[in-house]
Amino acid sequence: MTTAEQLPVEELIASLSVDVPDFPVPGVVFRDLTPVFADAGAFRRVVDALTAPADLDPRAAALSGSDGGPGFDVVAGVEARGFLLAAAVALDAGTGVVPVRKAGKLPREVVSASYDLEYGTATLELHTDSIRPGQRVLVVDDVLATGGTLEAAVALVERLGGVVTSVAVVVELVALGGRQRVAPHPVHALWRT
Ligand code: PRP
Ligand code: ADE
Repeated sequence: MTTAEQLPVEELIASLSVDVPDFPVPGVVFRDLTPVFADAGAFRRVVDALTAPADLDPRAAALSGSDGGPGFDVVAGVEARGFLLAAAVALDAGTGVVPVRKAGKLPREVVSASYDLEYGTATLELHTDSIRPGQRVLVVDDVLATGGTLEAAVALVERLGGVVTSVAVVVELVALGGRQRVAPHPVHALWRT
């Protein structure tokens, strides 16, 4: 049996991720998850765990209905690291994936939202036709820090009439309080630290 099969998923993520002090600016400890994604067994465990939040969260489960499906119709992934996860989760779940992109990258009509994050400000955009009203959306990113990014991503999905069934992340930096900014939407975090 390999390490990836033996460890609880949060211990696997903790053991492979690397803390980088003072990146990208002094005072920030950057949680680098690239070694987690580079490890085939760990990436599989992470994607499987992100794909099944409806099984774990009663609120999301209630929204999922009784169709036996994953509880969401589409996965929204946040640029850039969220893309790595969202596409894999969508393939696993049998849904499509839509990109929530940084400003100026999407070629057609968009909705936009600006926000602050731990080390700057940014704007996210979503094609206006990428989410249909009433569609159930799982929003995926790698890290929940201050919550500004996911608050903006959720707001864009909802502006288009989407129903956010859950927000799924690999790591939640608990001390930064991001979960409160995403509330009342449930956050499914594989490793809370
Ligand atoms: C990082 C991370 C999350 C966000 C979390 O993205 O991937 O999207 O910060 O921070 P918050 O909870 O404080 O908003 P970043 O904007 O650095 O972009 P990248 O994925 O393109 O590197
Ligand atoms: N995004 C925002 N803050 C972060 C951090 N400390 N590590 C990795 N990604 C982040």
